[in-house]
Amino acid sequence: MSKRIGIDLGDRSYDIHVGAGVLDNAGEIIAGACKGRAAAVITNRRIGNLYAGRLVESLGKAGITAQVITVPTGERFKTLKTIAGIYEKFLDQRLDRGGIVIGLGGGVIGDMAGFAAATYLRGVDFVQVPTSLLAQVDASVGGKTGVNLTRGKNLVGSFHQPKAVIIDVSVLQTLPAREFRSGLAEVIKHGIIRDSDYFAFLERNLRAVKRLDPAMLEQTVARSCEIKADVVGQDEREAGLRRILNFGHTVAHTIESLTGYGKHSHGEAVAIGMVTAALVSADSELVDRIVRVLKAAGLPYKVPAGVRADDIVQAMGFDKKVAHGKLHVVLVRSLGEAYVSGDVSPNDWLKALEKQDKLP
Ligand SMILES: NC(=O)c1ccc[n+]([C@@H]2O[C@H](COP(=O)([O-])OP(=O)(O)OC[C@H]3O[C@@H](n4cnc5c(N)ncnc54)[C@H](O)[C@@H]3O)[C@@H](O)[C@H]2O)c1
Ligand SMILES: [Zn+2]
Repeated sequence: MSKRIGIDLGDRSYDIHVGAGVLDNAGEIIAGACKGRAAAVITNRRIGNLYAGRLVESLGKAGITAQVITVPTGERFKTLKTIAGIYEKFLDQRLDRGGIVIGLGGGVIGDMAGFAAATYLRGVDFVQVPTSLLAQVDASVGGKTGVNLTRGKNLVGSFHQPKAVIIDVSVLQTLPAREFRSGLAEVIKHGIIRDSDYFAFLERNLRAVKRLDPAMLEQTVARSCEIKADVVGQDEREAGLRRILNFGHTVAHTIESLTGYGKHSHGEAVAIGMVTAALVSADSELVDRIVRVLKAAGLPYKVPAGVRADDIVQAMGFDKKVAHGKLHVVLVRSLGEAYVSGDVSPNDWLKALEKQDKLP
């Protein structure tokens, strides 16, 4: 049981393989997608303990030798220092231009493994094996890689497309529930911005998805990958359409920064931000449907107590950005139809936040 999604990027085209148990076919897939026969698997301790053995075994059967590089866990280690340590391990292993770098983990690992692959010897083959729901439906698609600097997230990076993405939905069984819900916010976002049928599918099946029903998970992850791939495929370097993926994210980023990163997960903040954005542009029926799905997912839909609407709007950066024109935000006209608008005033946002506060 698995699905294959072809990503068409000319001579950099590749496939995303989605299925329960597909991890055990990773060797065969990678041997087909890459010429090299030496690999470095980048992971962290927990994910490595759970899954690196199976991955390395599968690689071995396909004639690929692999070393496992374990990096410390957490966003705060997504740094150039960690990358420098990874390069040293590559050199110890004598990984050459034909080497394959494999990221086995959530978005933090994927971003770092991708950045190391993009820069080591000016670029080697890269394969994503995402293990969090967010990484499976979002971070592993689109080719963005990078690390944080002390002064901000993802400030250094590059675009480096993988040779293959291998998504085993059964690894989600060990993902902490809150991380799973966080990924669901991006899944729901895909339905809202691009595909009303998919949104309706989620309305009907979210329970089964939350129970980690393998067939439902496979369908959901595959459809989300298709949607993200389609959007970034039309706008690989983020000039226009790709911005619709930021639906809900303007308010989300302010909530994350006003409350200190970590208090609310990224997905929780996105869930709240999507409701605010919907209240700016959509009718009450659509707002209702979005709120209902978020509730079913176990995600919040109201701004946390203690975060003031004024502060949110101020933190959105109207002042800075209005100087060069307007603050561009993503809104929805109707289900499946997102667009970028430069015409929303601070007052419109305040009104939306007021309505959000009064939601039952
Ligand atoms: N490149 C992109 O386009 C893109 C897009 C969105 C987000 N990101 C980046 O992704 C990162 C967030 O990714 P994330 O939400 O996956 O966080 P994460 O990588 O920190 O993973 C969350 C936690 O879950 C654990 N985990 C992951 N998979 C597991 C599994 N199967 N079983 C048990 N534990 C597991 C991880 O070890 C970690 O503790 C951020 O750094 C963000 O900037 C990148
Ligand atoms: Zn996001």
